[in-house]
Formats: sequence, structure tokens, C-alpha cells
Amino acid sequence: MTLPLLERLKERIEEEMQEHFRSFKGKSLLKDACFYSIAGGGKRLRPLLVLSIAEAIGKNWNAMPSALAVEFFHTASLIADDLPCMDNEEVRREKPSLHRAFGENTALLASYSLISMGYEKIVKNAQLIKDDSFGKRLVLALNEASKASGITGATGGQFLDLNLSKPTFHKICKIIYQKTITLFEIAFLLGWIFGGGDLSFSKRIKKAAFHLGMAFQVADDLQDLEEDIRRKNLKNMAAFLGKKKAYTLVQGEVDAFVSSLKELGLFTTTFQEIALLLRNCYSETKATIV
Ligand code: IPE
Ligand code: IPE
Ligand code: MG
Repeated sequence: MTLPLLERLKERIEEEMQEHFRSFKGKSLLKDACFYSIAGGGKRLRPLLVLSIAEAIGKNWNAMPSALAVEFFHTASLIADDLPCMDNEEVRREKPSLHRAFGENTALLASYSLISMGYEKIVKNAQLIKDDSFGKRLVLALNEASKASGITGATGGQFLDLNLSKPTFHKICKIIYQKTITLFEIAFLLGWIFGGGDLSFSKRIKKAAFHLGMAFQVADDLQDLEEDIRRKNLKNMAAFLGKKKAYTLVQGEVDAFVSSLKELGLFTTTFQEIALLLRNCYSETKATIV
């Protein structure tokens, strides 16, 4: 199964990512560590969403800096998630995890550095805005990005995940919302804000992101099911619900995602590919972005 539109956007993201690190002058092991975690590997789904939303608006605004910002936030969360004091993972994106390759303290600092780089990119993106909505757009973007990474977002979600003893459907949903969906919301919002979208639609944009994020995480849980059962990770939604119900949940969330985008007039051919990717996440004809 080919996904030509996503492939094209992904190539542009990879080029920008390389350029970002090339433009850093001078030698620094911390920079090398950031680049190691970013370069090579990763589906780049979140930056693809930023660009796809901006493209769907059709104003030809440049949302690339924000696309990089969400990938930096996301990668920072993966570095932290892999640390020995968290999930203690030895491999990430088919390479030794960052702390295995560069040591724990460098990995922790690389994670912090990537978060800062993300905020810097949001500010850069605002500076590209040519009309007087600049200030409003920047404030909204920074406000939403800060909330998505804080106690009510990814960091809080990671905390809940680490400290949950008895999973319930409601508690697993809460972890999924905070750990995964908030970053999807940010990807959609940044694409909307820096693609020239009408800011009064922000809530509806978040709703579409919610459904995609939920579909993505449960699809990921389905793929990790055997491994998570082996590790006794009962926070996996597919382990909690069973395969069949989890699969039905994914399909229902993709349907809701498609409807929300259609209502907003944003269901472009690029989003058709994204919906296909999710729908086939757990089938023989599994689609992948290479
Ligand atoms: C991994 O996200 C963490 C989850 C929320 C499941 P991805 O599966 O998007 O990871 P990369 O970016 O492709 O490595
Ligand atoms: C990934 O979480 C990190 C965040 C979403 C913050 P998981 O532990 O669920 O994902 P993998 O399996 O390590 O990619
Ligand atoms: Mg993990």
C-alpha cells in the first residue's frame, strides 16, 4: 500500500530537520545527542498532521517550523520515557535508546533541550506571519503548547501511567488523553494557527485531533499487545478490552475523526491517506510510512 502524499510531506520534514541541525555551528556532544534521537527513524506522524492541516486550509502559509516543534516535543517525551527510571527501554526507533548511546545525564539534558527548541520553533513560526494576527496566534500557540506538555498534558500523563495500580477504562482513557492525545491536539492546533485558520474554530480542531489520537494509541496498543501482556502492562487498552473491542474502538474513532474533518471542510486527500493508515493498522495490508 502506498501513501504518496504523506511520503512527499515526510521528505520535506526530514530535509528541514537535517537543515535545523546543520545550522547549529560548532561542536557539541549535547547537540549530537539531540540529533541522534531525532535523525533516522520515526514515522513523523505529528509533523505530518501539522503540515496536512495547514495545507487543507489552502492559504499557503508556512507551518514547517511548528511541524518541527511537535516532533521535538514528541522526541523529548520518548527520550524521557525510555530512561531507566521510567520504562527502561534499551531500543528506540530501531537503535540503542539515547541514554544507552550517550549516557543518562546527557539523555535527560537532550530531552530538555528539545523542548526548548520546540518553543523556539513556535516563536519562529509566528515571526513568519505577515498580517496583524501575529500576536494573537503566538499567544494561543504558546498557551496551548505549554498546557499540552505540563501537569494536565504529557508530563502529568506519564506520571499517572507510572503510578497507576488498578486500571479501569476511565483511567486508561485519561492516561491516553494526557500522554498521547494532547500532542495530537497541539499538532492540529499549530497547523491551524500557523496555516491561517480562523482561531474561533480551535475547539472543533481539537475534537478532530482527539479522535485521531485515540485511534492511534489504541492501534498502537493492539500492535504491542503480546509484548505488553508478557510484561504485565495492564494499561494497554487492547489488553484491557480484548482485541475485538479494541479494534472496533479504533474503527469508531477513525469514523469520528473523518466526520469531524468533513464538517470543517478539511478532509483532503492527504487526510484520506492518514485515515487509511489508521484503518489498516491492524490488518494484513498494514499501511506504513517508510
Ligand atoms: C510512540 O509514538 C509513542 C506513542 C504515543 C505510542 P510513535 O509511534 O509515533 O513513534 P515514532 O515517532 O514513530 O517513533
Ligand atoms: C510513549 O509512551 C511516551 C509518551 C507518549 C509520552 P509508551 O511507553 O506508551 O510508548 P512506547 O511503547 O515506549 O513507544
Ligand atoms: Mg515506553
